[in-house]
Amino acid sequence: MGKSVALECARAGMKLILVDVNLPGLKATTAETGFPEDSFYIKKVDLSKDAEVEALFADIAEKFGRLDYAVNGQWYRHALLIR
Ligand SMILES: NC(=O)c1ccc[n+]([C@@H]2O[C@H](COP(=O)([O-])OP(=O)(O)OC[C@H]3O[C@@H](n4cnc5c(N)ncnc54)[C@H](O)[C@@H]3O)[C@@H](O)[C@H]2O)c1
Repeated sequence: MGKSVALECARAGMKLILVDVNLPGLKATTAETGFPEDSFYIKKVDLSKDAEVEALFADIAEKFGRLDYAVNGQWYRHALLIR
């Protein structure tokens, strides 16, 4: 489901930050869009680990300054994602 959302958002011209425990899977998803890999910010993140989620949001704040939408397509309902 996350992949389908990512593909549609990329086609709509959104700038995407994609995270997953499966980094090769993320790379395959960016390749599928047909856009260059460096037009995405991709990172291996385990959403069940608080420290990794905290680091992700710190990274986003520093690199992009804001986040317009977040889509959680993984089973884990992380408290930081629904805050
Ligand atoms: N597919 C459906 O039709 C459907 C319908 C209703 C609800 N859901 C629910 O939506 C969620 C996603 O379903 P899906 O079919 O897209 O599953 P999926 O297995 O295709 O995708 C889940 C993704 O989450 C990643 N992931 C797993 N654990 C992770 C972690 N700790 N940190 C970061 N990434 C992690 C996996 O690598 C995978 O890429 C599930 O909770 C599922 O029960 C799915």
